[in-house]
Amino acid sequence: MTMLLTGATGKTGRYIAQSLAARGVRARVLLRDPAAAAWVAGLGMEPVIGDLSDPATLAAALAGVEQALLLAANSPAQVAMEKGFIDAAVAAGVRRIVKYSAISAGGDEDYRFARWHGETERHLFASGLDWSLVRPGYFMQNFLMSADSIRAEGRFYLPACEEPVSLVDVRDAADITVACLLDRAQDGRIRTVTGAESLTMHEVAGRMERALGRPIAYVPLPAEDFRAALTGAGAPDWLAGGMIEFFAGASRGTRDHLSGCVHRLLGREPIGLDRFLADHAGAFNP
Ligand SMILES: NC(=O)c1ccc[n+]([C@@H]2O[C@H](COP(=O)([O-])OP(=O)(O)OC[C@H]3O[C@@H](n4cnc5c(N)ncnc54)[C@H](OP(=O)(O)O)[C@@H]3O)[C@@H](O)[C@H]2O)c1
Repeated sequence: MTMLLTGATGKTGRYIAQSLAARGVRARVLLRDPAAAAWVAGLGMEPVIGDLSDPATLAAALAGVEQALLLAANSPAQVAMEKGFIDAAVAAGVRRIVKYSAISAGGDEDYRFARWHGETERHLFASGLDWSLVRPGYFMQNFLMSADSIRAEGRFYLPACEEPVSLVDVRDAADITVACLLDRAQDGRIRTVTGAESLTMHEVAGRMERALGRPIAYVPLPAEDFRAALTGAGAPDWLAGGMIEFFAGASRGTRDHLSGCVHRLLGREPIGLDRFLADHAGAFNP
């Protein structure tokens, strides 16, 4: 059965590709950057150059494919790209898509990334394809975006939020995605992936303090201060807006849900924040 992976060079996708390779799955991998082709070939997989924003490249990538992983980065073009991929998959005779989505999609969709995923999910439901959805919570790996200020000042800056947020390591989200790709019993199933803990950002700072052995503080910023800081550092306004909306939702107590999915599907405990911090201590230490 030919499988096509998208997003395999990203934070989650590279674990998905490595895990599938370790199981002997020889997938085709859509790449924008030819420089990544050697890494893909080294996994025993087949690189194919293409771009989700360029439908002309997708027909060749999808030829003969039975199932695909649809995983794309957030951007204002994400919905159009993902819908275009689904349409190209239908045209190519693909049978099944596993879509990497986000927590709260299909629910209250109170931040733009969930709204974008929800819109694509509904397009997938209407496509006639078999599907399986993976909806991860807030990535622990997002704290790596604050590694510079944690190293230099012992502080990280996020939108103000005093309520707990359920955190997930992308390695757990990758393992759940692999489970969905390899098991047709996951058809029609929505897998919300969280870790075992919901923590406030102050509690996260406390864990960092313990793991790194020096004072670390969370600095809660008013929304517009956060926007100015992020865009001032070169990030796009839509990213700042999405993060502000995410933490505004969290402030209403909507992000502390724990799904138990890793335990149920994989029969093991999820990766905790302490292990994440131990594994990435080099990024956070001066
Ligand atoms: N951050 C969170 O807390 C969180 C939580 C839940 C869900 N999510 C969802 O996770 C997804 C992102 O996952 P991630 O962080 O693992 O990914 P990521 O590190 O942002 O990587 C994105 C991947 O998509 C590829 N890509 C981007 N644009 C493309 C295009 N036009 N054509 C082909 N490939 C393209 C990238 O390839 P290149 O190497 O060519 O750039 C890369 O492989 C988003 O949909 C987001 O909503 C995030």
